[in-house]
Amino acid sequence: MRACVVGSTASLNSDSFSVETGLLMTRIRKATVRDVHELLECQARVWASLRGVLPTPWIEDEIKRSHHPDVKDILRKIITDQTRITLVAEENHTIVGFALGRTDKGGLSWLGFMGVSPTHRRQGIGRKLVQAYVTESKTKGAQKVSLNTAPELKPAAKLYVDMGFVPEGLMKRHRYGVDLIIFSRFLE
Ligand SMILES: CC(C)(COP(=O)(O)OP(=O)(O)OC[C@H]1O[C@@H](n2cnc3c(N)ncnc32)[C@H](O)[C@@H]1OP(=O)(O)O)[C@@H](O)C(=O)NCCC(=O)NCCS
Repeated sequence: MRACVVGSTASLNSDSFSVETGLLMTRIRKATVRDVHELLECQARVWASLRGVLPTPWIEDEIKRSHHPDVKDILRKIITDQTRITLVAEENHTIVGFALGRTDKGGLSWLGFMGVSPTHRRQGIGRKLVQAYVTESKTKGAQKVSLNTAPELKPAAKLYVDMGFVPEGLMKRHRYGVDLIIFSRFLE
């Protein structure tokens, strides 16, 4: 499958998407096993940026998990699993964002977690990651993309709503005492 996205233009048939962000070019592409270390570092940076926003035990558990000795093997398996969607945003050979999810046979694509390094936010990378995730979900036959997010993550909620996701439900005190909103987008 090859696809190319430059600015707001998307065409489907590639493993990589390019996004213009100011002077630098950010490439959105499928992760490979070589990305494991950097992807985990980026994930830890994203979780660290949520200190003071989400409960401390949640943040610290996730950061610890990003550094757990077994997690690299787990992530390698995830990256090579065809039911998974593992995308990275790369700028200057550095991973600055990611989107991780999985599809099932029933037509659902579940976006598990995504993030952009704090130093690279508000440059359109998050939007392009979601766009690429949706495109890849369609390619894998999904009819719907769903995810959950905490109301405290206002930039994320704004991003999803901007991108056509609608709130479908609220799970009260679902993780670490935090309410989670389910957002979904049906794919035509
Ligand atoms: C949510 C996140 C991925 C957005 O990434 P980003 O690259 O900064 O997003 P973009 O620059 O593509 O912004 C796209 C849209 O999202 C919304 N948005 C992003 N950051 C925002 C902010 N700080 N305040 C308000 N809206 C924001 C806006 O609608 C924005 O569109 P605009 O720039 O035209 O106003 C990033 O803030 C992040 O990593 N947050 C921490 C992790 C997280 O919350 N992940 C989601 C968990 S479910």
